[in-house]
Amino acid sequence: MRKPLVAGNWKMNGMRASLIELAGMARAYPAALRAKVDLVVCPPVTLLFPAVASALGSGIAIGAQDCHAKTSGAHTGDLSAAMLFDAGANAVIVGHSERRADHAETDADVKAKAAAVIAEGMTAIVCVGETRAEREAGKALAVVSAQVRASLPEGAKASNVVIAYEPVWAIGTGLTPTIQDIAEMHADIRATLGREIGKDQAAQMRILYGGSVKPQNAKEILDLADVDGALVGGASLKAVDFMAIAEAAG
Ligand code: 13P
Repeated sequence: MRKPLVAGNWKMNGMRASLIELAGMARAYPAALRAKVDLVVCPPVTLLFPAVASALGSGIAIGAQDCHAKTSGAHTGDLSAAMLFDAGANAVIVGHSERRADHAETDADVKAKAAAVIAEGMTAIVCVGETRAEREAGKALAVVSAQVRASLPEGAKASNVVIAYEPVWAIGTGLTPTIQDIAEMHADIRATLGREIGKDQAAQMRILYGGSVKPQNAKEILDLADVDGALVGGASLKAVDFMAIAEAAG
């Protein structure tokens, strides 16, 4: 019922020459795989426009990694959701733990950004996840549930919001939670969504796992009932790795 989504987050990586990887992804995404798995690649904003051109007709959607909550105005250096949509983006990652940490973004900020994204008709990929200290203290489920409740925008539906569960300590570390811990967290997020947006929408909303997803571990994680795809950092920079993960989702 839920079509898996594999999303690539290039973070602050990628020059124009990196678009060759996107072209490689497009070549390795035939109609048969397209029918089974959605793909979105979120390059740095400098590459947004050429990435849209290079992905044209491939079925790969292009997204951004952040936006401002306002539509326009005196916010030097910031980009609005409307601008990203105008440049060809279909999705925007909001509330990534690196933004929450580096730019002190709160759940309220994330909610406002997500609202701006869906107001433009794009998909908000809303990131949540606990720190290592929170997991060790036995608070992971409570922390993530609170983040989901406080970060979801008004009008969130399965068609405009995707949740990405990314344990902070699993990002870029090669570490992942146990399969049981991932399964437990995703089921708990879906239960939280059910209370927030109703059981029907919660049953349809995609919940991605992110944090050290590689071709080697993707299948085991993606086979879990409540895991509807992956948000991939490092392994999304290479077409061969990203497409192996896409295949594992199919
Ligand atoms: P890695 O896949 O490099 O661990 O990054 C995950 C992530 O933060 C994606 O948003």
